[in-house]
Amino acid sequence: MILASLISALRSARHVVVFTGAGVSAESGIPTFRDALTGLWERFDPGELATPEAFRRDPALVWGWYEWRRMRVLQPQPNPAHLAIADLARHVPQLTLITQNVDDLHERAGSEDVIHLHGSLHRPRCFACAREPAEPLPAADEPEGGRRLEPPRCSHCGGRLRPGVVWFGESLPVAALSAAFKAADECDLLLSVGTSGVVYPAAEVPHRARDAGATVVHINPQGEAPGSNREHLLALPAGKALPELLHEAFGG
Ligand code: OAD
Repeated sequence: MILASLISALRSARHVVVFTGAGVSAESGIPTFRDALTGLWERFDPGELATPEAFRRDPALVWGWYEWRRMRVLQPQPNPAHLAIADLARHVPQLTLITQNVDDLHERAGSEDVIHLHGSLHRPRCFACAREPAEPLPAADEPEGGRRLEPPRCSHCGGRLRPGVVWFGESLPVAALSAAFKAADECDLLLSVGTSGVVYPAAEVPHRARDAGATVVHINPQGEAPGSNREHLLALPAGKALPELLHEAFGG
């Protein structure tokens, strides 16, 4: 049962921000980061794989692991939460979609202009000159857990390609972060979907919206009761809560 006040806040909102984390892709079968049993980081030390130092030390190990991850997120399909977010953009005057996810399930669900705060598995760039390859990477079978794979070379400078994700110790893409903060400051409703909210500066996005006066709704089956009266929790899986919210607010 969704509170009538939330439904009317969604109906009357002029600018909605949707801020997503790994939980929005969980129902597509992609493990979240902090999942105790199946989290990807449980099986690998991120310090060995997700830092510029690791890439410098052993590019084939890092590239191979990320190629396996890229293949791992190509198979799953968008779930009802991704589809409801794409649909919501057609019902409100302005919607900004900000994700911490490095998969492309929002795009495949039909969302446009997605702000990827932590980069994308599908946008590699040169480790030396930062240029992106002209051709998308091909899909290939990768064995479970990945394998050592020499990174392809940049066609401009001959440097090694690196995954287009933000690694530990790296800054977030400046344009993406400033667009996200601006939308958070300006919106009147923010839906925070499937994120543990512990990784900064991304986790500032819902705080900024709340502090600027927006209503903030957290959608997370394991979410904690929020401390402010402008914040609400829908303790449901995103694939159930979002279609329901949309249906209640706009019918169909
Ligand atoms: P986490 O794995 O930290 O959190 C996922 C959240 O989703 C948890 O709070 C779950 O309770 C919730 N969840 C699980 N299933 C859900 C469902 N069906 N519907 C809604 N919520 C569900 O993922 P993030 O918060 O995205 O950073 O992690 C943030 C960042 O930490 C990631 O972007 C990554 C990682 O280090 C980088 O790669 C830079």
